[in-house]
Amino acid sequence: MTRYRIALIPGDGIGAEVLPPAEALLDAVGRRHGIEFAYDSCDWSCERYLAEGAMVPDDGLDRIRHHDAVLLGAVGWPGVPDHVSPWGLLIPIRRTFQQYVNLRPVKALAGVPSPLRSAGAGGVDLVVVRGNVEGEYSEIGGRLGRGTADELAVQEAVITRKGVTRVVEYAYAVAGSIGVAPAADLDPEREFPSMFEPVHGSAPDIAGRGEADPLGAIWSAAMMLDHLGHPDASAELLAAAFGALADGVSAADLGGTADTAGYTRAVPTGWAPRPAWAHERRSRTFGHWSPPPTGAAAGVRPGRHG
Ligand code: NAI
Ligand code: MG
Repeated sequence: MTRYRIALIPGDGIGAEVLPPAEALLDAVGRRHGIEFAYDSCDWSCERYLAEGAMVPDDGLDRIRHHDAVLLGAVGWPGVPDHVSPWGLLIPIRRTFQQYVNLRPVKALAGVPSPLRSAGAGGVDLVVVRGNVEGEYSEIGGRLGRGTADELAVQEAVITRKGVTRVVEYAYAVAGSIGVAPAADLDPEREFPSMFEPVHGSAPDIAGRGEADPLGAIWSAAMMLDHLGHPDASAELLAAAFGALADGVSAADLGGTADTAGYTRAVPTGWAPRPAWAHERRSRTFGHWSPPPTGAAAGVRPGRHG
């Protein structure tokens, strides 16, 4: 049995709705591959910022720097300016942990109506590799005369040869490879945990309705499995997640009728996700993690693939 400690950062809005399906499916596919995940859930969010004045506790990043990976939902919420929430959480993680590659695969999926549909499954397979810590993220600059009519802001986009070279080299290394999935913030040196997150934000317009499409989070979780050295489990999870689409089940954003729980149930992993997840309010305090029930206690049932 291989065990991993995963730092979970649900964040804001639908971030907290799309991670439980990803967790449940990770657990299910992990059981088939001898992999066990222990999750430490961090309450880092705009809610925390409003209550305590900081998105992340002072020693927050130190508490997760030895985890095997970070799984993040989304960050940002009305009432907290968008320059505060990412700069207080997302960007410090990416920078501190040297996640200098941002990886976002693109695929045409069976069962999803799209202008690219005529290309057929596999006909579109793109990966975007973007530099993640330089350029606009350099944080070189500042403000003069803050709050006055003469206020001046200067921001420099700094790009170094070293920074470009390492990202370009990474891009060449992954070009043409299949099976890598959407948003990952990678430290290819593996000195720090890498982070896996759906590209989307917290979707305040639909948050709380149970309608969010969990596929981005599930796909990100599959990327995490691959990064941790489990390409078979990753491919199985991905195929299962896409299988639901091919079976004609999709969430509203893809024109379907499935809600978050319904889509998750339609993913044929061989084990259904814990039925209680949708209503579970796990401890959101870091370090107070209790393992999810397993086996009969969780009400698992054999799925279509036995
Ligand atoms: P958004 O991605 O949250 O939402 C854009 C539109 O897409 C909305 O209509 C939303 O309902 C829909 N949508 C997004 N994810 C969905 C899902 N899984 N299923 C179904 N529909 C989905 O972008 P928006 O509205 O510009 O930003 C909202 C907040 O999220 C802001 O505070 C923003 O800063 C933050 N944000 C955070 C990101 C991150 O954590 N990496 C990335 C993008 C935005
Ligand atoms: Mg995101």
